Amino acid sequence: MIPAIGMGTYRLKGQEVIDAVTSALKLGYRHIDTAQVYGNEAEVGQAIKQSGVPREEIFLTTKVWTDRFKHDDLLKSLEESLGKLGTDYVDLALIHWPSPNDEVDMAEYIGALNEAREKGLTKNIGVSNFTNVQLDRALALPGGDNIITNQVEVHPFLANRKVVDHCESKGIKVTGYMPLAVGKVMEDETLKAIAEEYDVTPAQIALAWVYSRNVVVIPSSTKPDHQKANLEAIKLSLSADAMMRIDGLDRGERIANPDFAPQWDE
Ligand SMILES: NC(=O)c1ccc[n+]([C@@H]2O[C@H](COP(=O)([O-])OP(=O)(O)OC[C@H]3O[C@@H](n4cnc5c(N)ncnc54)[C@H](OP(=O)(O)O)[C@@H]3O)[C@@H](O)[C@H]2O)c1
Repeated sequence: MIPAIGMGTYRLKGQEVIDAVTSALKLGYRHIDTAQVYGNEAEVGQAIKQSGVPREEIFLTTKVWTDRFKHDDLLKSLEESLGKLGTDYVDLALIHWPSPNDEVDMAEYIGALNEAREKGLTKNIGVSNFTNVQLDRALALPGGDNIITNQVEVHPFLANRKVVDHCESKGIKVTGYMPLAVGKVMEDETLKAIAEEYDVTPAQIALAWVYSRNVVVIPSSTKPDHQKANLEAIKLSLSADAMMRIDGLDRGERIANPDFAPQWDE
């Protein structure tokens, strides 16, 4: 249901994000990942509109920031996002991070998110940066059974096995963010060696590895040739030996780890 590869837009602003989304859509991406807090929803919306690609062909995700989790505020936040994106609905609305220290009760914001789905503001709902315990709590809440994904950090240096296995056992799709470890994969000797064997780049090997683990990938790139290479990467079939060598790179290296992060499943 969630397209296997999407275009991430974190850090991209102004004309840069317009150009990146325009080129991604031209190359065939049909899944765009943004968030209220990225401050680029208006530009993402503008690029989608200008692309001429019918809205219904695009899977568009946005996220609600933690300061908008009270019931009415969450609904208002999503309405504001839709206004900026220039659309009547998103395909997926995510809780960006669990409420720090449970400041807002999970039942309130999961309930409000589900209400947004019932009102048609979003077709699907999900969470991001949830631990296994938090995901189980969310799934058990009224409306929680509509959650389709947990978006978490996944790349060769952070395999996030406990979360990936747990989600799989619950029938929840994992969306893997920062699949290129924000470019770090390009410097790794093992990935470089495997890339040479397959005559591709380390970035492509990293994406193929994440994708082979049944995880949706949302790499971000400002460069059309990188975007194209990333699209092609998920067609690569890695040998069991290559998969094992990449599995061995896991060192629990977390890039997105703000002070309000939950107690991670290590
Ligand atoms: N839910 C959350 O809390 C959360 C947190 C972080 C990120 N995200 C989402 O996940 C997306 C991806 O994460 P990210 O953007 O931080 O990091 P990323 O996708 O791991 O890495 C992006 C970096 O990799 C480079 N790159 C992309 N393709 C490449 C290629 N084929 N060869 C070489 N370099 C390449 C890009 O540079 P160029 O522009 O030069 O190609 C950019 O510097 C975000 O954009 C966002 O949508 C979600």
